[in-house]
Amino acid sequence: FLAGIFSNPPASAVAAPAVASLKFGVYFASQSGTAERLAKKLAKELKLQGHIAEVASLAKIKPADLAQQENALLLLSTYGEGDPPESAVAFRDALFSDSAPELKTLRYSVFALGDSHYEHFCKFGIDMDERLQSLGATRFVPAAVSDVDVDAPFAQWVADLKPHLSHKPAESNVAIQNNATGHVLAGDTPAAPPAAEQPHLFTRENPYFSELRERRALTRDVSSKLTMHLSLALDNPQMHYQPGDACGVIAENDPALVDEILSLVPFADSSSVDLPKLGSMAVREALLRHLQPTRLSRKIVQHFADRTGAKELTTLLLPEEAGQLDRFMWDRGIIDLLHAYPGAITAAAELAGMLPRLAPRLYSISSSPAAHGREVHCTIAVVRYRSHNRERGGIASTMLADRVDLGAKLPIYIQPNKKFRLPAADVPMIMVGPGTGIAPFRSFLHERQALGHKGRNWLFFGERSAATDFLYCEELRSMTDSGHLTRLDTAFSRDQAHKIYVQDRMIEHGAELWRWLQDGAQLYVCGDASRMAKDVDAALHTVVEQHGAMDAEAAKDFVSQLHDDRRYHRDVY
Ligand code: 2AM
Repeated sequence: FLAGIFSNPPASAVAAPAVASLKFGVYFASQSGTAERLAKKLAKELKLQGHIAEVASLAKIKPADLAQQENALLLLSTYGEGDPPESAVAFRDALFSDSAPELKTLRYSVFALGDSHYEHFCKFGIDMDERLQSLGATRFVPAAVSDVDVDAPFAQWVADLKPHLSHKPAESNVAIQNNATGHVLAGDTPAAPPAAEQPHLFTRENPYFSELRERRALTRDVSSKLTMHLSLALDNPQMHYQPGDACGVIAENDPALVDEILSLVPFADSSSVDLPKLGSMAVREALLRHLQPTRLSRKIVQHFADRTGAKELTTLLLPEEAGQLDRFMWDRGIIDLLHAYPGAITAAAELAGMLPRLAPRLYSISSSPAAHGREVHCTIAVVRYRSHNRERGGIASTMLADRVDLGAKLPIYIQPNKKFRLPAADVPMIMVGPGTGIAPFRSFLHERQALGHKGRNWLFFGERSAATDFLYCEELRSMTDSGHLTRLDTAFSRDQAHKIYVQDRMIEHGAELWRWLQDGAQLYVCGDASRMAKDVDAALHTVVEQHGAMDAEAAKDFVSQLHDDRRYHRDVY
């Protein structure tokens, strides 16, 4: 009943196991749920092979539990500054402490999930892989890393594992290494499906300079929340995209912030610093264009603590204060530490060495190539907030709102998102996109309209208030009037005493939603990963249970099958 990842023996529950049955702990550390989904899929496959597999979150186990296992497979997401997901911090700290147990009898392999737009790509997975080995454990196969798109690298990792899943100890630690980090980049293997997509000439390293043609507010009360619509010119035919793709914007920091930082350190703006791969440049240039000077990280707090010995900071770094530290870092920046601890930073190289690289910001494209021609549209929520007596903001969104004029040329590139594509012309589509999550669905809807696709379209949209935050209201209404948008269900969370969210509307219209799924509809979710996408996933399970007359376990299988059949797509951030 599952399209097996293992090709042999056939993926049938009654097939005799090809190897003696082994017991596996399948562990995950998940931020948005992907690692968890893959862990469950892997366990299912192992069981089909006649093995015993238990799935657990790293949040639920201790290193001592790992020491009890003979075989462990770990699916580990990295986020932020190379950190583990919040739920895995305690496990990581324990495993890296001096009291961690020896793991001499453990065989394991790590599948690392990450995003190469971040400097510390897959760092948590890679660190764990090395730590397990240094505690005496033996790898089945080297760690595999995946870059956002997980399915092909995952299938490859599972295929690589297969020959090793027997009672014989694996060839101890002879790793097949094919890239600079010594980790097998599974995504590079030929297992990835051939992409029938055109290559892109312009990239993050070689961006296209696109003219800003239009900028308007989509929200009415811009004092409480500003979401903007931007149109950028694509005058070069080498700049092409498909609905579902993202636009990468290479941002610069606010010069006022950079100048304030430089006013608090004893070296000159022109002091030279060396950045890996970029070479030497003035520290001001590095701070403006290449480094991330707003967010705090443990590393930065640690640096200030080492330099100053300040009790406030050393206390925050104690393992038991992890929650406090997170709260401390959440709404402060480096600027606050520079003000609070004058003299802590003395050299330009020290400042530059402490800061992560400034990553481009990716925005899901909200225009359609068929409908909007040589333009690309972005739908951008401007991040501004006040904390600890300062006005603060997002780097790219404030730049696009405040620091560039119409007619300016902005360095951009297209980031393809092959997993988030329109279905065939006649397939019904259910889209859940609150807030700026509407962006790819505006693209989908316009594209389908321009191409005359006849499949039904259902959009769930949510925002704070209908009067002020109904993004693209007129366009959506006219698509509803024409019948192109078959259904539009809105959830305006703050228009009544109690909150109503998109997932509440899904449950409310569960019977209809279930019918659409029975008709073969594809389901798309875009937007906030930390809460919305999880709650929407839970609502989907509820709908399947209630209207498909299934218990929780069967509903899980159903949803997991939707994933496997590529009918449940998520673009969440
Ligand atoms: P709120 O801010 O009023 O709580 C876009 O940001 C919309 O998503 C807002 O209406 C916001 O509501 C809502 N939202 C907040 N948390 C959510 C969640 N867990 N699930 C779905 N929508 C959520």
